[in-house]
Amino acid sequence: MSSLRLGVNIDHVATLRQARYATMPESKNAEPDPILAASICERAGAGGIVTHLRADRRHIQDRDVERLRQSIMTKMNLEMGNTEQIIDIALRIKPEEVCLVPEKREEVTTEGGLDVIAQRKELEPTIKRLQLAGIRVSLFIDPSLEQVDAAAELGVEMVELHTGRLANAFTEKIQKEELEQLRSAARAASESNLQVNAGHGINYKNIALINEIPALTELNIGHSIVSRAMRVGLETAVKEMLATMAKYPG
Ligand code: PXP
Repeated sequence: MSSLRLGVNIDHVATLRQARYATMPESKNAEPDPILAASICERAGAGGIVTHLRADRRHIQDRDVERLRQSIMTKMNLEMGNTEQIIDIALRIKPEEVCLVPEKREEVTTEGGLDVIAQRKELEPTIKRLQLAGIRVSLFIDPSLEQVDAAAELGVEMVELHTGRLANAFTEKIQKEELEQLRSAARAASESNLQVNAGHGINYKNIALINEIPALTELNIGHSIVSRAMRVGLETAVKEMLATMAKYPG
């Protein structure tokens, strides 16, 4: 058994649904259902469900978040931008965890980590409000020592290290450099008593590199698992990812 926990991001299931039903959110025929997908992932051994309620509601809808809150048996990790409307929803829904991410309307997916140093003033009250409601808070950051230090100073429980650049590295040199950055950021975060998670762009191939990052507790993975599910089904796709994670030495 791997000591690494898998959080499955089920947003891409909602993306497929919205491709057809965006203008008919209450349609009885709306499929595929992200709530059903979440329960399949849990049955397959996922340790948590990740979902991002975006300001533009391009995939997950408010009703999905409510239904997920009712049905998730493991833990719910709500990814969100630092905006008043979404903070209000998080405080009402009370997921076990919130991961604060930067959010730009025009981006295809989350691009880059939060600049915790520059946004310290805006992040601090949000973190406090969420923590007071009993929610554990994570900051999605690039693997830089300065960002890790800034996150630790803000008193969050966790950081999620952005693995996107490692995943998209198109030369071995960049890959090596990025892996080294991730390794030292993970070590530093762990020494600051932060739980260390990682996510973005992780797939069945580059997981071998991810397994070289020390001190990890959780990986948050969406696109590759949902894509693999087209061939083998969601339950098997999750089990296959867990099997690769079982090689994690930590
Ligand atoms: N972690 C964070 C903070 C993300 O924003 C995303 C994408 O929604 C993921 C993990 C999952 O990334 P992917 O879909 O590339 O596995």
